[in-house]
Amino acid sequence: MARHLITSALPYINGIKHLGNMVGSMLPADVYSRYLRQRGHDVLYICATDEHGTPAELAAKEAGLPVADFCAAAHDQQKAIYDGFELSFDHFGRSSSPQNREITQEIARELHANGFIEERSVRQVYSNADERFLPDRYIVGTCPHCGYDKARGDQCENCTRVLDPTDLIDARSAISGSADLEVRETKHLFLLQAKLTGEVEAWIAAHGDEWPVLASSIARKWLTEGLQDRAITRDLEWGVPVPADVWPELAAEGKVFYVWFDAPIEYIGATKEWSDAAQPGETRDWKSWWYQADGVRYTEFMAKDNVPFHTVMFPATILGSRQPWKMVDYVKAFNWLTYYGGKFSTSQKRGIFTDTALELLPADYWRYFLMANAPESDDSSFSWELFAANVNKDLAGVLGNFVNRVLTFSRKRFGDEVPAGAEAGEAEARLGAQIAELLAEYEGQLDALNFRKAVQALRALWSAGNAYLDEKAPWTQVKTDPEAAALTLRTAMNLIHLYAVLSEPFIPAASRAMRGAFALPADESTWYTPEQAASLSLVTAGTPFTVPPVLFAKITDEDLEGYRTRFGGDPDAV
Ligand code: MF3
Ligand code: ZN
Repeated sequence: MARHLITSALPYINGIKHLGNMVGSMLPADVYSRYLRQRGHDVLYICATDEHGTPAELAAKEAGLPVADFCAAAHDQQKAIYDGFELSFDHFGRSSSPQNREITQEIARELHANGFIEERSVRQVYSNADERFLPDRYIVGTCPHCGYDKARGDQCENCTRVLDPTDLIDARSAISGSADLEVRETKHLFLLQAKLTGEVEAWIAAHGDEWPVLASSIARKWLTEGLQDRAITRDLEWGVPVPADVWPELAAEGKVFYVWFDAPIEYIGATKEWSDAAQPGETRDWKSWWYQADGVRYTEFMAKDNVPFHTVMFPATILGSRQPWKMVDYVKAFNWLTYYGGKFSTSQKRGIFTDTALELLPADYWRYFLMANAPESDDSSFSWELFAANVNKDLAGVLGNFVNRVLTFSRKRFGDEVPAGAEAGEAEARLGAQIAELLAEYEGQLDALNFRKAVQALRALWSAGNAYLDEKAPWTQVKTDPEAAALTLRTAMNLIHLYAVLSEPFIPAASRAMRGAFALPADESTWYTPEQAASLSLVTAGTPFTVPPVLFAKITDEDLEGYRTRFGGDPDAV
């Protein structure tokens, strides 16, 4: 039994996430966590909302709420959706927690003590009307390149050119609209990353080869451009305050850390939140997971745009702290899931959002589709046609139909208990060997975090059952040889129980339904070895069973038409 620490990139607090966000971080982390737990490992799966920064402040303003209230509500809203997706976090925290504040400040102190933080003067836009410095994106004006009159100080949305706030024509505050702006000198903390370049390089050289190419290639590419010192503080209301004991002047000015400084530290902060929430008599030792945690294997899940932060910037922070904080062992990165080949877009509301998805269909449908089509080696595309094909063929056709056919028919012919019938013969031995082989393949792909291939192996396990059933045709057998038919059904019921256990990482609800079909004495088995699976005799004759409701409904042509109309989506585009 090993200790596995698992984190998925922290979803940003503003806005409901879309399916592309889900498949690129939280869902695969959940599948992996469930799998490892089922294999008997000690797993801690941590996630949280990433709450600080300008977008949170702007979203709160738009909602007309104080930012703390906005974040609290938005956190609960996201949490409810993730519960709906059956994400099995050990803790889903908040980067605005006191725990994260404490650890972020501590790490900043350590970096300072080691000479990796420096105060530097910068020139920044100050708004007299708002009595505050304005972050670049809080300044709006006319783009000097295209004339768009709502360009932001960091970038023009219209022509996408990167801007400096001083480039804007008729610049004004996005908060008050005031044009009474001036450039003032102010101090910020800089993380001296350049000095850490060599250490980060050595660390990537030592670990990067084990990561998928997507992660290691982005990390290395980032490094060839060299690490730049970067400002890690901002003039915002909402953030982790600069500790006053080290930087009294900046603290008095109300400087907070930049969101990308405190967000990854929240992986640790959220673990402490988890620890602090322990019930009396329960031991939860956050430090044993993060500090001098030599026996822990740490796996991170994220979309590719997050890779530089996790493989270069955050490691630089940790290395510079000179403290034995746990560093990541394996970085699982994902490409993009597209919507009919185009971008899912939160701002343009294009694609399918996680809340809407759950209103349409239960989580298992989405979990299965997303993992079967996970953008691992390349981008992959969502289309309603492909979604319907996956659901109808694999879930309803292969798995659901098998379960239903077997149990309904057996009940009709042999009653409410698993029938005894003949001894297993040559066909069962062949089937057992095939199942054992496919299970070993399935385990191997999950151990290697190859989710698409793991789903393929799982599907092959389901198909093997169908092929066996078609070959034996118990509905024909029963007419001439009821004993043989009973053997077929008993064997098929063993497969159903096996599917219940093995499918759980991907489709937990259907797994519960399949498991619940059999009244097995003390059913605590969480996994089976290929040898056990091959025996096809884990569910014995005489075990009472019930027929669960249909596991998966087919998506009809009418449904499909409705989805296309409602969400847009051109079938010719794929
Ligand atoms: N909120 C970021 C995003 O959505 C991810 C933060 S990951 C963390 O892209 F490491 F910073 F926490
Ligand atoms: Zn422009």
